Amino acid sequence: SNGQVPHDKTLDNTLTLIKEGYPFIKKRVERYQTDLFETRLLGQKVVCMSGEEAAKKFYDRELFKRNGALPKRILKSLFGENAVQTMDGDAHIHRKLLFVSLMTPPHQKRVAELVMDEWQSAAEKWKGMEEVVLFEEAKEVLTRASCKWAGIPLEEDEVKERTEDFFEMVNAFGAFGPTHWKGRMARNKTEEWIKRLIEDVRDGKLDAEKGSAIYEMAFHKKEDGSMLDAHMAGVELINVVRPLIAVCIFIAFSAAALYNYPEYKENLRSGTETYFENFVQEVRRYYPFVPYLGAKVKKEFTWRDYTFEEEMLVLLDIYGTNHDSALWDEPNDFKPERFFTWAGGLFDLIPQGGGEASKGHRCPGEGITIEVMKTSLDFLVNKIDYDVPEQDLSYNLDKMPTWPESGFVMKNVREK
Ligand code: HEM
Repeated sequence: SNGQVPHDKTLDNTLTLIKEGYPFIKKRVERYQTDLFETRLLGQKVVCMSGEEAAKKFYDRELFKRNGALPKRILKSLFGENAVQTMDGDAHIHRKLLFVSLMTPPHQKRVAELVMDEWQSAAEKWKGMEEVVLFEEAKEVLTRASCKWAGIPLEEDEVKERTEDFFEMVNAFGAFGPTHWKGRMARNKTEEWIKRLIEDVRDGKLDAEKGSAIYEMAFHKKEDGSMLDAHMAGVELINVVRPLIAVCIFIAFSAAALYNYPEYKENLRSGTETYFENFVQEVRRYYPFVPYLGAKVKKEFTWRDYTFEEEMLVLLDIYGTNHDSALWDEPNDFKPERFFTWAGGLFDLIPQGGGEASKGHRCPGEGITIEVMKTSLDFLVNKIDYDVPEQDLSYNLDKMPTWPESGFVMKNVREK
């Protein structure tokens, strides 16, 4: 029976989860000495699980599905309704290949080049400024670069507003109240805007290059050969631009890590690729971003003597798996050198999901994320010098998403 598995004894843990934030699952798997426990969230029975073996189960498409797993409030702010995140089976794989085709190594390289160009222009602008907040600058750099890459025209006077809207959709994911509503409004507005652009591409009023994200979304054919409606194509186009803006969080954490662990700067100055790669991987592992993922049980099965009932909601612990001492030596230390010997598992380093991107829901944007982080790190280490005034670089684990409190303030930024 399921009596053996720990049950969290409160009536409903929703408020506790929001209050504890990132470590909610990790705390309990440590307390109960298990990788699986049952609790109640939003009025329903939920299984929480953590670690590499749990991740392998979670990505078994015979056992789990995504449709119906995400609360409406997430779809109405972060993701958009009926998009790739909610799809299952062959229809999902077909849609997923569209995304994967837009994130190949040539695309990764192109995006990274555009991001470096934008950093260089930003540095020009900073010359007359007393101080800059890297987090805010990164958002704008990424919005400009990703719109250029995707083929989305952006007027100079709309950059600030569009930047905030993309960011507010991301910022809404762990929030109730005003932050959530901001995210919803930002989504509605952005969907309207992008839908019009899709229509313009289809009508030939807006030039789009074959192979660009806007073109490929506008003319994508579903499995049955029919086109996506313009709104849906727009939602999927937003699904490649919005997460790129979200990389600003990892960039702010990278800068904080450089400051807190200056011993790594020398290696990054002498510049071999592996040091960049390892530093970036450790930022993605160590710092919190995505807390958990949700899926629903497709058909009943038993694992660890626990019966997963059909339609049950299951959460996979992303933050905890990235800090699991069974997988990572001294998981709470920032140590990029650990990646010199990392075997490259599909279910251990999972800041952007596990498994294979083309066969499941794992993020297709990891290559782009890593290249953008590497180029931004190169910019910070090798292209500019700056002073770091006293500030609060701590981050709250009970705020989702989170980033260094001060946003990383830099003074007296100068070119090298
Ligand atoms: C899915 C994280 C950047 C596009 C995901 C998932 C996670 C994630 C956790 C869900 C995996 C799952 O449901 O199993 C992140 C993080 C990023 C990032 C932390 C860094 C800021 C990007 C970028 C792009 C992107 C740069 C595109 C250029 C997507 C798409 C999906 C996705 C389209 C949906 C995949 C699916 O449902 O099949 N991401 N991502 N992400 N990501 Fe990312």
